[in-house]
Amino acid sequence: MSGVAHLYIHLPFCARRCGYCDFYSTSGKEARAPAYLESLLAELEEAADLMAPLQSVYLGGGTPTRIGARPLARLLAAVRRRCAAEAEISVEANPETVTPALAGSLLAAGATRISLGVQSFSERLRRNLERSGDAGQAARAMKTLRAAGHGNVSLDLIFGIPGQTRAGLEKDLAAALSLEPDHLSCYELSIRPGSGYARRWEAKLKAAGAESDHFYEIVVDILEAAGYRWYETSNFALPGRECRHNLGYWAGADYLGLGAGAWSTVGLKRWQNIPDLERYIGRTGKFVDVRRTEDLTAELKLWERAMLGLRCDHGADRGEIAAVVDLEQEKSLHRNGFIMTGSDKICLTRAGRFVANEVCARLLRNIEEPRRPAERAGCGGPGT
Ligand SMILES: C[S@@+](CC[C@H](N)C(=O)[O-])C[C@H]1O[C@@H](n2cnc3c(N)ncnc32)[C@H](O)[C@@H]1O
Ligand code: SF4
Repeated sequence: MSGVAHLYIHLPFCARRCGYCDFYSTSGKEARAPAYLESLLAELEEAADLMAPLQSVYLGGGTPTRIGARPLARLLAAVRRRCAAEAEISVEANPETVTPALAGSLLAAGATRISLGVQSFSERLRRNLERSGDAGQAARAMKTLRAAGHGNVSLDLIFGIPGQTRAGLEKDLAAALSLEPDHLSCYELSIRPGSGYARRWEAKLKAAGAESDHFYEIVVDILEAAGYRWYETSNFALPGRECRHNLGYWAGADYLGLGAGAWSTVGLKRWQNIPDLERYIGRTGKFVDVRRTEDLTAELKLWERAMLGLRCDHGADRGEIAAVVDLEQEKSLHRNGFIMTGSDKICLTRAGRFVANEVCARLLRNIEEPRRPAERAGCGGPGT
């Protein structure tokens, strides 16, 4: 094995939990950040033997920037000692945490890419997301980041928010584009059935009726027209600004995840650190104790690789995924205009990309216990 080149670090601190969010994070626990940082540094040391010079690092959360500029700089310094010269180092930031001092410190510490979690510019829709902060903060944060010299900034948006109309979505996209981001991630709101959020917003979501059915197409049309490449289901980039870290996940590369709740996949082993801040802090030096490990089969890895590859515009390598492709379905999907098959690639057509989950479910053979691979890989690998 040649060593893992992609590293994710999870920082589970938030000012307040947003109603819709299912990622592991805590609120009101910043006092534990110094102890957590020590544990992260210890886990980084422990994992060093598994690493090649890192090509990409992603600090996600939670809200990484809530631990403050100095602790982040210390973490980045430790990480950079393990990085290749041209490594991409992304840091997620919530707009309200971005001050000139933080922006300058992140750049000096080696962050090469910032991902700003905006979600929506509308005060009303932010309320419906049960999200703190105000809509003006994103523009101020972008200005601050650019002034500090950050040349690669991505924005996260969510669509399909309760109460969102077509006009509201178009307004959000226009507001995002006016900030001239290098990259955009646009996720359809996913709501865990049976959650408190689902119960609170059920009526409003039903009231939206068919209007929201076309939101995804609107997102793609508007961002493509503005010059962004739709390079993955939910991700859009100006030329050369694709997220290299996520491209690694989608290409099926091994990755290590440090921190409470983070996932790792190395060869045929996958493990998750237990999503519990105190247990993670308490196990410093014995991280194996806070892991849940599963053995993957070669077939499952291939299936995941096919799934993830097909989500990207360049598709999946035909020869590589042949063993998990249903040949009858392939012919039928091809005939019906959902996939293109060349000699070396299988790609989804534009029509196919809008129904990617359904196309993949038909194209790929059922295998034992298929698991959904990372849809928002930046947030800690599969299922975090
Ligand atoms: C886990 S969050 C962390 C980033 C940051 N704390 C924030 O809130 O912006 C990463 C991204 O995942 C997306 N996300 C989180 N929960 C989601 C959900 N239920 N449905 C769709 N996207 C979601 C948001 O776009 C968010 O920016
Ligand atoms: S969406 Fe971001 S800020 Fe909100 S709870 Fe999740 S991680 Fe924290």
